Amino acid sequence: MKPEGILRILAFGDIIGEPGRKVFANSIHKMREKYLPDLIILNGENSAHGFGITEEIVKSFFNMGVDVITSGNHIWQKKEIFNFIDKYPNLIRPINYPPGTPGSGMTIIEKSNTKIAIINAMGRIFMDAIDCPFRTVESQLNYLKENNVKIILVDFHAEATSEKQVFGWYFDGRVTAVWGTHTHIQTSDERILPKGTAYITDIGMCGARDSVIGMKIEESYRKVIQHLPVKFSPADSSANIIEGVAIDIQVNSGKATLISRIREIISINSK
Ligand SMILES: [Fe+2]
Ligand SMILES: [Fe+2]
Repeated sequence: MKPEGILRILAFGDIIGEPGRKVFANSIHKMREKYLPDLIILNGENSAHGFGITEEIVKSFFNMGVDVITSGNHIWQKKEIFNFIDKYPNLIRPINYPPGTPGSGMTIIEKSNTKIAIINAMGRIFMDAIDCPFRTVESQLNYLKENNVKIILVDFHAEATSEKQVFGWYFDGRVTAVWGTHTHIQTSDERILPKGTAYITDIGMCGARDSVIGMKIEESYRKVIQHLPVKFSPADSSANIIEGVAIDIQVNSGKATLISRIREIISINSK
């Protein structure tokens, strides 16, 4: 049940390879029935065997009714991305890559006569030293105001929890929602900040449960314990998890009224 004047979005964490794609495909119908979303967003940076995304996968997500695909540092890992990223305005990459980087970091879509901006930004702590995410996102806000876009959603793809919290506080009341991605581990700190921004440090992932952030455990032993080079691949597991958030937004004000975590564990034998 959805209250009057409320727009509801669902955002799902990084899709990790085939297990992630499968759990998403098998769950999205049920999620639609349960949440009645107006907009579905997912992070697709790991959807092609853990690294990057292919055009075929992009099309399959859009065919399943996904409105926007966000990404992050892994977006460039399948070379073909450069051939198609500019064809899909609703496939976005972090906005704070330097000017001239292919693709776009923001898209504006319209649902029920309401404009919604979705921005993808990336942190810099323990990550590549790209342009400042704070100043880059801030530079978009006037443009959005002038164009009467009140609903602004940000996928902040970052490693450090502190940088994500700073980002949430800094934009409280100026954007509708900030959710973190990239760590693949869902945090339990979802809340509405004092000035009306929905916030969570990380929404988690969609992928193999028995894994290290979606990847094979043995490969992680090799990397973390033995410090040997390894080519990571998505784990096989007896169950997959689908994680994300549902956010309710007041259409008139552009403020968030509710944020709740989604976390379901699905046995791979069940449909
Ligand atoms: Fe990721
Ligand atoms: Fe990432």
